[in-house]
Amino acid sequence: MADRYARLAAPEAAALIKHGNNLGFSGFTPSGSPKAIPMALAERAVIDHLYDRPFKVGVLTGASTGNFLDGALAKADAISFRTPYQTNDELRKRINDGTCRFVDMHLSLVPQFVRYGFLGKIDWAIIEAADVTSDGEIILTSAVGAAPTYAAVADKILIELNRAHPVELRGMHDIFEPQNPPHRRELPIYRVSDRIGSPALKVDPSKIVGIVETNYEDDSRALGEAGEIHQKIGQNVAEFLANEMKAGRIPPTFLPLQSGVGETANGILGMVGTHPDIPPFEMYTEVLQDSVIALMKEEKCRFVSTCSLSVSTELLREIYGNLPWYKERIVMRPQEISNNPEAIRRLGLISMNTAIEVDIFGNVNSTHVMGSKMMNGIGGSGDFTRNAYISIFTCPSTAKGGKISTIVPQVSHTDHSEHSVQVVATEWGVVDLRGRTPTERARLIVDNCAHPEYRDELHRYFDYVKGGHTPQTLAAAYAFHVQFMKTGDMRGIDWKRILA
Ligand code: COA
Repeated sequence: MADRYARLAAPEAAALIKHGNNLGFSGFTPSGSPKAIPMALAERAVIDHLYDRPFKVGVLTGASTGNFLDGALAKADAISFRTPYQTNDELRKRINDGTCRFVDMHLSLVPQFVRYGFLGKIDWAIIEAADVTSDGEIILTSAVGAAPTYAAVADKILIELNRAHPVELRGMHDIFEPQNPPHRRELPIYRVSDRIGSPALKVDPSKIVGIVETNYEDDSRALGEAGEIHQKIGQNVAEFLANEMKAGRIPPTFLPLQSGVGETANGILGMVGTHPDIPPFEMYTEVLQDSVIALMKEEKCRFVSTCSLSVSTELLREIYGNLPWYKERIVMRPQEISNNPEAIRRLGLISMNTAIEVDIFGNVNSTHVMGSKMMNGIGGSGDFTRNAYISIFTCPSTAKGGKISTIVPQVSHTDHSEHSVQVVATEWGVVDLRGRTPTERARLIVDNCAHPEYRDELHRYFDYVKGGHTPQTLAAAYAFHVQFMKTGDMRGIDWKRILA
């Protein structure tokens, strides 16, 4: 590690940042996100606000972060603008009450939006590193995210040198930034494991203003064991994929898998991975979650291309304790590459993401509760869904103890349209929407995926609407949602009144 850089305490680093600055942080999920500087910034914001001095910054990241970053800064009311994704309760509150501007973006697009200048100037890149050399080579930690782009475009760079990550991580990252159009070349990734870039992030060392030394583990929580419903959804997806193989629509070598974030995705991947008819596979994905580690150890998952090691603290320690073994089986890429539409389409991915709700025609809402309240954001789900060989959405058929049906006549917000969504699975069944008309899709989804308690209601809706290519009655399309907002339960709709 180089001596040429100034050593700063976190509050000293925070003091360099001005109200109104835009900050580009490394990391993707809590993994690889800076911790000490954002916490010091939050403390500074609290003091500034006490003295009526304005202090808010724009926060651009790879994806979500942890309590150290989004949590601390949101609590201190120090975020004026946030993109592209978050999962923090405090920040979510501020996004939904309008006190924090939030732009929900496809994660693959973030780096190029930044390079094109669509998101304004980046004043500071704040990068968590396992090592840094005097000529500006940075070894990133447990994620890449959009760090290469933030470091390239920012006026100045602050490094958090985090001793909780070993310097031996060198070799697990593959840093590559595409050229800007109109002469951008193809990505030479022909196999999931192909490396196309450099193990280190290279920056102009004169831009590095200082280094803050830390020793914080990633703020990642362990995901729970898959419950009964998640296991059933997983079985349905696994059976579907095994049958696709038998039918010759998936090659015997299988295809690379992508799996989304959260409890549902983690549980489903675990079930798919242990299905006896599914052969060992590779993953081309943005997050490596807990269930993948067990599959790797059983050699069921042979290689993972990811943007982050979004695993629990215990599993990250295990990876770090066996780095040579994992380095042969994992590559971490920038989100522009892990989520790249060209690579996804060409490698023939099977994408598996989670929906908040799905409508009877196959449109998916991944982001907004009851059409208006932001949950987390679209994340990478659109990057993968639109370009996958087979795109799958899963969700439990009900939420909030059965008071909400996740299968609805019309989604209250659309993230993925019927044109991109090919397969839908709940704990009740799985439907293949490929080659189906809207009317056929509606019957399939209601009869196979909706919770039995809601099937009559959905049939009543569907039986009433006649005519048109996509039978829909605008007066009743949101009857389920309106009923929930009035009574706290989607059941018991007065169809006669609505359809009168
Ligand atoms: N209406 C209202 N609330 C709903 C709902 C619905 N239709 N469906 C789910 N919810 C609520 C759940 O009750 C739960 O609330 P709680 O935390 O208060 O209990 C919450 O949403 C999360 O649901 P859960 O079933 O625990 O899902 P999850 O952890 O698997 O996350 C998403 C599901 C959709 C929120 C999550 O996958 C996501 O943010 N997806 C978008 C980004 C993405 O797909 N990225 C992947 C690319 S790799």
